[in-house]
Amino acid sequence: MRRILPFFLVCAATAAPLRKDTVAEGFNDPMSIAPAPDGDVYVVEREGKLLRIRPSTGGVFEIGNLPVSALRASEPKSDSAVEDGLQGIALDPDFSKNHRLFLYYSVPDQLIDRLSRFELRDGKLDISSEKKLIDIPVQRHDRICHHGGSLQFGPDGLLYLSVGDNTNPFASEGSAPIDNRPDRIPWDAQRSAGNTNDLRGKILRIRPTETGYSIPPNNLFPQGTAKTRPEIYVMGCRNPFRLSIDMKNSTVYWGEVGPDAAKETEKGPAGQDEVNQAKAAGNFGWPFLVGNNKPYPIVDFSTGKPGRMTDPAAPKNTGIRNTGLTDLPPGQSAFIWYPYSESAEFPVMGKGGRNAMAGPVFYHDPNRKINILPKEDDHTLLTYDWVRGKIWKAKLGEGEKLQKLEVLEEGLRHPMDMEMDADGSIWLLDYGSEWWFNNNGKLLHLLPEFTQHSPVISIEPIAGKDRTFTVKSTSGPDNEKLTVTWWLTTGVTERELGSGSTITVPSTEGSELRAVASDGKSPVTVTRISLSKEKVAPELQLKLAGNPASLAFGQPVTFEIKSDTAPDATQTTITARYIPPTGHDAGGPQFSTELTALVTANQCLACHQVDHTSVGPAYLNVSLRYRDRPDALDYLKAKVKSGGSGVWGAVPMPPQIALKDADADTILRSILGLAEGISQSQGALEGSIVLAPKPASAGDGGAWEFTAEAPGFTSSKFRIPAK
Ligand code: HEC
Repeated sequence: MRRILPFFLVCAATAAPLRKDTVAEGFNDPMSIAPAPDGDVYVVEREGKLLRIRPSTGGVFEIGNLPVSALRASEPKSDSAVEDGLQGIALDPDFSKNHRLFLYYSVPDQLIDRLSRFELRDGKLDISSEKKLIDIPVQRHDRICHHGGSLQFGPDGLLYLSVGDNTNPFASEGSAPIDNRPDRIPWDAQRSAGNTNDLRGKILRIRPTETGYSIPPNNLFPQGTAKTRPEIYVMGCRNPFRLSIDMKNSTVYWGEVGPDAAKETEKGPAGQDEVNQAKAAGNFGWPFLVGNNKPYPIVDFSTGKPGRMTDPAAPKNTGIRNTGLTDLPPGQSAFIWYPYSESAEFPVMGKGGRNAMAGPVFYHDPNRKINILPKEDDHTLLTYDWVRGKIWKAKLGEGEKLQKLEVLEEGLRHPMDMEMDADGSIWLLDYGSEWWFNNNGKLLHLLPEFTQHSPVISIEPIAGKDRTFTVKSTSGPDNEKLTVTWWLTTGVTERELGSGSTITVPSTEGSELRAVASDGKSPVTVTRISLSKEKVAPELQLKLAGNPASLAFGQPVTFEIKSDTAPDATQTTITARYIPPTGHDAGGPQFSTELTALVTANQCLACHQVDHTSVGPAYLNVSLRYRDRPDALDYLKAKVKSGGSGVWGAVPMPPQIALKDADADTILRSILGLAEGISQSQGALEGSIVLAPKPASAGDGGAWEFTAEAPGFTSSKFRIPAK
């Protein structure tokens, strides 16, 4: 099955870096973007919000909040609805005139993922305008996940939607989830991705019409074929995450997030992520084939024994929940595929965690304002990876064949969606630093690196004059020619206040003031300040029994938490942290710069933070839990290498096979050291906390810092001298 490709693949990053301007930030789990013809960019957030961004003035407007089923920051421990939410957006090809857009989302209180058309009225999402197009029945229990959820129009007005396999991947050893035992619905992708009569695990292709949609010719199954759905263009997808259509020839590209097996076993090949190319309708294999048509055996989950091997040319679906055809169309190979370890065929893809995404396709056009790549890159597919933080350029040749694959950009955080603007520049959506519950997602504008530098400005209030501001310290290549325009955000729109270096904002208006500086040549610089008064959260009061004047190491201390509105006791955390008398206090446990670089390079930060829970546990909590255990280091090294779940919750850690032994040792020693001098008590409004033992490096003196925290409350913090 494995073959070395007959063309030469370059390994180094050779391209000039792109300019990356942050246009807007502070998004909560932004999922996808759609640039409009007038220069605006629409963003959907997982928990249901629709935002309109106006890059030319820096305006960010929340124009809708669709009720969706979603895991919410307010109830983070739910074991259902994982990955649910508002997934995808596409603007109608005639959006400038009809203000219509298409959204794909998880319907609340119904086991349905839905594609609907909506309209914007008076600049807002009119929820009553909803025209339901496709309802896809889904299951939501037992950590069933994978939504796909990418929506794109092709050049001919056809709409493509990628849909995930709606299957729990965590009980098949990283191989194919094809569990035929009764009551194992969540663990069987034969019912979805491999089922010709089910819309999950597919790329659908329809032609939206005034009243609904019609089926275009040349989908996978002719309309009327028994046991099939006519909307299916591509079947056999696991989590087809971001798709893109070549606007010249309608070739479909998508990233496919592949299964977790770190290496080949008798249950199947090593898991692969895929960048796929469909020039015509086809079966891309999941859950029977992966990568370049590597077959899975049909495993009997009651005995664990592998049975019949899948024939890539004639795959069969004999699953007990299959409602479609048994004989499936022949398997199609991925275009680019890569496992956790370095790929034999595509070493330039690197190694480690993976989450493939694809598109757009670049064509060089001398008549367009911007060409993001040089002429020799005409006809190049851009692909990217959410975990690896890179963009690659895949140069295409005759018949859309891959000619050359190179790294274009690296060091991105979590690229989530990428779209080309009508002017030829690229919009890149950065999901944020974590897997869930981000509030720091960003919209980046990618431009060729030769584009000039923009001016740098800040807004300062003028003392003694109410709501009057000035632009300070301007600098830029053409400083003297700088023009500053002032914009005020009012509700879902904005208003220009005038130009010049100072401005007075009418006292009754506006939530945000922006200064837009332009030198007439380079992209504008936007600086903003908030005018709205923030709501203040209620304060917690932490009291220690007997108001001690000083405290000794290793001693218990009795405490009590109070507040005007009582916090939920189970949500409270009290931390007592020893602060040495000299040296720098970083304000909490921290990794050194070297260690931060090491965990970043090893992609640990995709799922872990030092001091708060993310997808995986906070490293501080790992340290608090294991620091007294003699075999902690060995245990954790083995666990990180092999992955697994159950200690902190149901979410597993994938095996970190790319992690070198020496690095594992350095990282885990540092993690275990994080809790030095720290103790914690959780889930009680009163009780006692035992102070940490004296750190080896501690001298005399120093202080204990006590912090009480609860979600939605202002925390309480104070210090008491150490004895
Ligand atoms: C894709 C997400 C992900 C990545 C990447 C990841 N982890 Fe984890 N990690 C988890 C999850 C989830 C858990 C909880 C597992 C459990 O409950 O048993 C975890 C647990 C841990 C634990 C505690 C283990 C235990 O049994 O208590 C350590 C230590 C750890 N990870 C270190 C690392 C290091 C070091 C890296 C980078 C080399 C890393 N992780 C990368 C998700 C991840």
